Amino acid sequence: VFSPVEMAPRDPILGLNEAFAADQRAGKVNLGVGVYYDEAGKVPLLRAVQAAEEARVAEHAPRPYQPMEGLASYDAAVQRLLFGPDSPLLDAGRLITAQSLGGTGALKLGADFLQRQAGKRMVAISNPSWENHRAIFEAAGYDVVAYPYYDPKTHGLDLDGMLQGLRDLPDGTVVILHACCHNPTGVDIAMADWVKVIDVIQQKGHVPFLDIAYQGFGSNLEDDAAAVRLFAESGLAFLVASSFSKSFSLYGERVGALTMVTASQEETAPVLSQLKRVIRTNYSNPPTHGAKVVAAVLTTPDLYQQWEVELGEMRDRIRDMRSSLVAKLAAAGVATDMSFIQQQRGMFSYSGLTAEQVARLADEFGIYAVSSGRICVAALNTGNIDAVANAMAAVLK
Ligand code: LMR
Repeated sequence: VFSPVEMAPRDPILGLNEAFAADQRAGKVNLGVGVYYDEAGKVPLLRAVQAAEEARVAEHAPRPYQPMEGLASYDAAVQRLLFGPDSPLLDAGRLITAQSLGGTGALKLGADFLQRQAGKRMVAISNPSWENHRAIFEAAGYDVVAYPYYDPKTHGLDLDGMLQGLRDLPDGTVVILHACCHNPTGVDIAMADWVKVIDVIQQKGHVPFLDIAYQGFGSNLEDDAAAVRLFAESGLAFLVASSFSKSFSLYGERVGALTMVTASQEETAPVLSQLKRVIRTNYSNPPTHGAKVVAAVLTTPDLYQQWEVELGEMRDRIRDMRSSLVAKLAAAGVATDMSFIQQQRGMFSYSGLTAEQVARLADEFGIYAVSSGRICVAALNTGNIDAVANAMAAVLK
C-alpha cells in the first residue's frame, strides 16, 4: 500500500521551520513562518493569557466533549470582536460561529460547507495570497484561480485590476479576501476601495469569504475589523475565517473560528445544522483549553484591557523593526528606495527579493524567508537585524 508513495515537496512556509531547525549555524534567523517573536527572540506567553490559564488550572475542571460548534461563550465573544459590541447583527439571528482549529480549520470548514451545500467548485484568491489558501481549497476539490491584487511597480494595490478580475469571474464564485494585514504583501484595501469591491461582489453574486488572521496587528482591534463591518452593513451573506494564533500568541492551541453571516434569520438554523455535520465528519468537536482561555480574556474587562496593551506592544515593536530595517538597508548600501517596507501592515514585508535571492540568504547566511520574498518582520530584533540587513544588502547587489 505504501510502496507507490512519493516524497511530497516541503511546505513552502512550514517547511522552512524544518530547514531552519536542521541548520547548525549559530547566527541563523527564521523569517519564514508568520510568528511574532519578542525582542529576546522568544514566542511570548502573554500576561493576560497566563492569568486566564492560571485561573483555569485552579478550577480543576473536568473535560467533557464540547458541542460540535465549540464553546458558546467563545463563539459569542468572537462575534463581538469581529462585528463590534453594538452591531445589529448580534441580535438579528443571522450569525453562526463555530470554534475551529485555527484559521486554517475555519477555511477548511467553509470550503467543505460551500462545496457540499452550495455546490461551489471555484474559488478566487488574490495574486499573491497566503500559499495555503490555494492548497486548502485544492485539497477540498476546488478549482483555484487568482484575481490581480499587488502591483510590484508601486508596491501597492492594483485596484482596477482587482475590480476587473472580480468582474471577469463566473457569477457566484467564492472570493477569498484578506480583511486586514494582507498576507504576504502587507498591502491593504482602503475603506473607499472596499466599497467598490463590495459593489462588484454584489453585482456578480460572488460569495465573499473574509480571512482575518491578524486583527490588531494593523492599526488596532476596531479599525482592523472595518472591512468585516462594511460587509456586515451590506446585507450580503458571507463567511469569515478568524484566528487568535497571532493576536493571543497561542499558535499551538489552534484557536480560530468560522463565522457565517446568513442573508436572513430563516436560513440560520438549517445552515448551522449542516455546518455541524461538516464538523462531525471532520473531527467531531474542537478542543477546550485555548477557547476557554481566549473567552476568559475577551469577557473579563481587566484581562481584555491587558491583552489590548500587549497586542499594542507587539504591533509597535514590529513598526520599530520596519523603520529600523529600512534605515539599515540604506546604510548597508542598498540604493533602491525600500521605504515601502514601512507602509506595509501586519507581520510581513513583501521585500521584492527574488526566489534566487531568498535561496542565497539561506545558503550563504542562514537566513530563512519564503521564496516569494516574504519576510516576517516580527522575527527581527535588535540582536539579529544588522545581520539580516547586511545579508539582504549583499544579495540585492
Ligand atoms: C504564515 O503565513 O506564515 C502563517 O499564517 C502560518 C502558516 O500556517 O502558514
